[in-house]
Amino acid sequence: MNQQNQRQKALELIDQYIKNDNLKKHLLAAENLMRHLARKLNQEKDEETWALAGLLHDLDWEMTKETPEKHTFIAAEILKKEGFSDEIIEAIKKHHPGHNFVHNTLLEKALYCCEELTGFITAVALVMPSKKLNEVTIERLLKKFKEPSFARGVNREVILQSEAMLGFNLEQIMSIALQSMQEISNQLGL
Ligand SMILES: [Fe+2]
Repeated sequence: MNQQNQRQKALELIDQYIKNDNLKKHLLAAENLMRHLARKLNQEKDEETWALAGLLHDLDWEMTKETPEKHTFIAAEILKKEGFSDEIIEAIKKHHPGHNFVHNTLLEKALYCCEELTGFITAVALVMPSKKLNEVTIERLLKKFKEPSFARGVNREVILQSEAMLGFNLEQIMSIALQSMQEISNQLGL
């Protein structure tokens, strides 16, 4: 499969397995964030692979709602059958903190510690008066990050690992993620 076909196939799989629009938007946000991270980490040559890992990472979310221990493993099976690369499949399998995998490649590390940031930034955008990403600032993100009761489902510990895993401190990783989401704010409806 060439790159364009792979993205097309990925979008078809998302339509097939995901009904919730917000989850689809989360996947688009993760796709563009992974693209930006690939560039920032000098992995431009693998940018499409990184983007696909972001785009497909929660493919089995709705199927594994009642069985979280299977989350990512079902997606891995589907993607294997569909011919996606082992690199993408491994990163997706390992992104769920509940599985306690060891993260070896930069791609695995990036997907693991960054994808939840898109959910956090969405939550911050939604409490802005305009509900728009354009109004969100780094200062606001950092302030909200320190409020444990805000977006309490977001695993702060995982996001903070980006410093050790990728060399980006919290402010840096937030800035990359915010920019990547603002770039596609229309698609995200924010
Ligand atoms: Fe996710």
